This record gives sequence, C-alpha cells and structure tokens, in this order.
Amino acid sequence: MILTVANLKGGTSKTTSAAFLAHALAERGRRVLVVDADPQASITRWAEMAEWRLPVVGKATGRLHVELEEIVGDRFDTSMCCQVASSWCSGLGRAGGRCSA
Ligand SMILES: Nc1ncnc2c1ncn2[C@@H]1O[C@H](COP(=O)(O)OP(=O)(O)OP(=O)(O)O)[C@@H](O)[C@H]1O
Ligand SMILES: [Mg+2]
Repeated sequence: MILTVANLKGGTSKTTSAAFLAHALAERGRRVLVVDADPQASITRWAEMAEWRLPVVGKATGRLHVELEEIVGDRFDTSMCCQVASSWCSGLGRAGGRCSA
C-alpha cells in the first residue's frame, strides 16, 4: 500500500495525518511500522508522550531507501514514513511499495 501525505508548506498537518492514518490502519488489523524520517522527530516524541502501542523507529537518514526494506522485512504490511525529503521518495517505492511519505 502506498499512501502519501505531502505538502510543500510547513504546518499543514502532514505529521498529524500520518499519525492518525497509522493508528487507523493498525485498528483495521494492518501490521504498521511508523518510520520517523523527520530530523525534527516530532512523531517519535508524540509516541513517547502518548505511550503509543505502535512501533516507531527513528530513521532521519538519506540512506532510508537502502535500509528500510531490511527493517520492515516480512513483519509489517505498512510502513508510515514521516517527513521524507523528496530526494528520498524514489527509494521508498523500491523498498517494497509498502511505504508512505
Ligand atoms: N485536523 C486538524 N485540526 C486542527 N489542528 C490540527 C489538525 N491537524 C493538525 N493540526 C495542528 O496543526 C499544527 C501543525 O500540524 P503538524 O505538525 O501535523 O504539521 P506538519 O505539516 O507536520 O508541520 P511541519 O511542516 O512543521 O512538519 C499542530 O499544532 C497540529 O496540532
Ligand atoms: Mg511534521
């Protein structure tokens, strides 16, 4: 599944939308991994503060497209990647098509 939450403008609910989508998909039985690729690490902080039951990994690296497939493996159906720089997005498709940005 490929979902994209994107907007060039800041403060337009990209992270909030990704957080709600991740939870909605998990409630529907998807095995969701949240990948926080945002150097601001907003979603990582939210997950800690709210004690999310969803797994969240921080991966603010330009090598995300190389490393993501091994992280996701067969354990997750959906990876919700937050705030991925546009130059990294092409790699996400190669990482199993289970990603969103
Ligand atoms: N549906 C909504 N209704 C009201 N407020 C919202 C809604 N979605 C997000 N917000 C608020 O808008 C602000 C910006 O949201 P968010 O951090 O998700 O945006 P962002 O696009 O990820 O920002 P950034 O570009 O800084 O990463 C936050 O204070 C958030 O609580
Ligand atoms: Mg954000």
